[in-house]
Amino acid sequence: MTLLTVALAKGRIAEKSLLLFKSAGVHFSSYDKSSRKLVIIDDSNSIKLILVKAVDVPTYVEKGAADIGVIGKDILLEDPRDIYELLDLGIGNCKFAVAGLPETEIGHQSFLTVASKYPTVSKRHFDRKGIRTDIIKLNGSVELAPLIGLADVIVDIVETGSTLKENGLVVLENIVDISARLIVNKASYAIKNEIIKQFISDLTTVLEVRV
Ligand code: PRP
Repeated sequence: MTLLTVALAKGRIAEKSLLLFKSAGVHFSSYDKSSRKLVIIDDSNSIKLILVKAVDVPTYVEKGAADIGVIGKDILLEDPRDIYELLDLGIGNCKFAVAGLPETEIGHQSFLTVASKYPTVSKRHFDRKGIRTDIIKLNGSVELAPLIGLADVIVDIVETGSTLKENGLVVLENIVDISARLIVNKASYAIKNEIIKQFISDLTTVLEVRV
């Protein structure tokens, strides 16, 4: 019988998370990154892994369909949920930044058109600076917006910086650093306290050794 359900975002974060889990003694040897399988049980038959779209991880955890999730802080900042955020896993490191064409000056602007997959983060950032905005929500390839005149600037995550570079854009302002977080359903944390705390403690030990 599985004791915990863990939701992971498919892709790079899943693979890095599974390496951390393995170091903490939880091994999913049947995981195959090329497989389309969405549910995987660990070798000790105690943890069920579900692979979901990144933006849906907090939904599975908040609703209790998963006890635990691993998700980027970017998603949590854009769409805060009623969950516990208990551990910074130190993977998936990147940052939120304002980017645009090199000649763009945002320092003295009172109004900007901003394209982003993260409208809430974008609005909050410019509200704090006292700059009025027209926020245009896009779902991907955001870097196109300043290139073709859809927006003055973009707010996006920057990891290696290569997407900006390849499109002739530069970081105009850093907003905040981001990394993957372990989130926990509130009821699960009460009901399955011992097993969840043990899992977090094992992961914390692994993270401390890595520093
Ligand atoms: C993300 C982000 C940037 C890129 C940053 O896009 O929105 O476009 O990665 O990474 P880099 O700094 O290492 O180049 P994603 O790969 O999710 O694709 P998308 O444009 O379809 O959203």
